[in-house]
Amino acid sequence: MARTSDKLHPDAALNDKTIVLVGIMGVGKTTVGRRLASLLKMPFFDADAEIELAAGMPVAEFFERYGEKEFRKGERRVMSRLLDQAPHVLATGGGAFADEMIRSLIQKKAISVWLQADLKVLIERTSRRDTRPLLKDKNPAEVLTRLLEERTPFYEQADIHIACKEGPHMRTAEKILQSLNNFVH
Ligand code: S3P
Repeated sequence: MARTSDKLHPDAALNDKTIVLVGIMGVGKTTVGRRLASLLKMPFFDADAEIELAAGMPVAEFFERYGEKEFRKGERRVMSRLLDQAPHVLATGGGAFADEMIRSLIQKKAISVWLQADLKVLIERTSRRDTRPLLKDKNPAEVLTRLLEERTPFYEQADIHIACKEGPHMRTAEKILQSLNNFVH
C-alpha cells in the first residue's frame, strides 16, 4: 500500500529554491527539516550546527563567552552563506527570522515556512535538553511566552504557516510538502 509520502510527489519547481524553516525554539525545526529534506531529496542544513562548526564551539558556550550580540553577527554571516548555496532545506535558530537582515534575505531567496506549536508542547520539548542559552536558569514558560509575543509579528511574515500537532514529525513534514506544492502552483 502506498504511504502518504509516496502520494505527495514534490513538484520539480520546489527543488529550485531553498526551503527555510522558522519558528520558536522547541518547535521541531531540525527534526522536521531532516524529514522534509528526505521527502524532497534535497540536502539538509541546520544553521545552529553550521554556526557551531564555524565558531568551533557549542552555541551555549558562544553565548557565554561572547554574548548574544556577537552570536547574532555570526548567525547573519552563516545564514548569508547558506542562502547563497544550492537549494536545500534549512532549519534556522529561533531568533533568525526576527532579524531584519536575515528575514529580508530569506524573503528574497527562499520559501519560508513557520512552524507553530502550543506553549505546552514547546515547554515539554525544550525541557528535554539544557543546551539553550536563552532558557538557562530561567523560567522557560516565561521566556517562551515573551519571545513568542515579540517574534510572532515576524514569524507571521513567512510564506507558509504550519500548525504542528503532537505526533510524528514525519506527519508535519508531509503537511509542509502539501502546502509547498500548493504554494508553487
Ligand atoms: C535562539 C534559538 C536557538 C539558537 C540560540 C538562540 C533564539 O535555536 O539559535 O540559542 O534566539 O530563539 P533553536 O530555535 O534551534 O533552539
